[in-house]
Amino acid sequence: MSELFGKSAFHMADVGGKTPSNRRALAMGRIFVGEHAFEHIQSGTLPKGDVLKIAEIAGITGAKKTADLIPLCHPLPLEHVAIRLVLEPDTHSVAVYALVACFDKTGVEMEALSAVNASLLTLYDLTKPVEPALTISDISLLLKEGGKKGRWVRPEGLPDAVAEFAKTPAAKPLQGVNCAVITLSDRASDGTYRDLSGPALAEKLQDMGASITSQEVLPDDQQQLEESLRELCTGNQVELIMTTGGTGLTARDITPEAIAAVIEKPAPGFGEVLRNASARTISTAWLSRSIAGVCNQTLIVSLPGSPKAIGECLQIMSPFIGHAVRLASGKKHLGGGAK
Ligand code: MTE
Repeated sequence: MSELFGKSAFHMADVGGKTPSNRRALAMGRIFVGEHAFEHIQSGTLPKGDVLKIAEIAGITGAKKTADLIPLCHPLPLEHVAIRLVLEPDTHSVAVYALVACFDKTGVEMEALSAVNASLLTLYDLTKPVEPALTISDISLLLKEGGKKGRWVRPEGLPDAVAEFAKTPAAKPLQGVNCAVITLSDRASDGTYRDLSGPALAEKLQDMGASITSQEVLPDDQQQLEESLRELCTGNQVELIMTTGGTGLTARDITPEAIAAVIEKPAPGFGEVLRNASARTISTAWLSRSIAGVCNQTLIVSLPGSPKAIGECLQIMSPFIGHAVRLASGKKHLGGGAK
């Protein structure tokens, strides 16, 4: 950023370099209306109309308008907004829950909170003709998912009405998938330096639910890699092989050639999306010749050779990798991710 644009007393976060991911946020709030107004809400007899339905619609509009109302919020292409209103007779209150989802570079918690506020203010507006003593309270974020930090649930737990969200673990798209990891690097294989990429890849795959059945470091040798891949693809024991390194342009980068030699079905979409999405953060992503394909029902995917690239690429693939493994292996029970 130039000196000129660095001088303001505030700034909108620059999310240009971030990788998009599936984002969700759940927020709530409550309005206490007193016994008399509560009966009107319950029986649908408020003078201005059916407050519960209108407040639900207001919540959806509130989520969509967030970037207009909150100055430093980014406009986001929301994929889903759901508003639920729960009548609470014991306390003569109405609780509002808002669930918002999108696939983007920044979170949707402000959208969920904005939805709750719009819905509560609509409840207020339609209830005030019969009761001026209204109190809005408990506006809070309950849960958020996505981005680098992953899933966060309010430490004190979730209210009963939305408790199922607390139980649902973050999507594990590779749940039950047997996965082999191969690092391609002359220098890591001869001990010149420690392999950081293989362990980083294995750890992240495990976070996604995979079981790591083998992990090896090979030199950048096409024949050796081909042999290793063929062996792993025999016997139907491994559903996914991920390699790291050797996808670049030097004479020793042979990973794509070795994979191309063993697969019977190329999956060009992997390379296309990895390069395209990664290039938004790092222009040298275009230099990676990452490829993927299926060999004897085992999906093979090649990633570039750095822990940073591995994190980025797995995040990019997380929405579809589980489904890809299911299709390639023919094992429908594998993978916890969405289609
Ligand atoms: N892709 C992502 N997502 N992040 C990165 O940091 N590094 C690039 C590219 N792809 C990178 C990336 C670089 S610098 C190179 S040279 C190529 O991958 C090839 O890397 P490799 O030879 O280690 O496979």
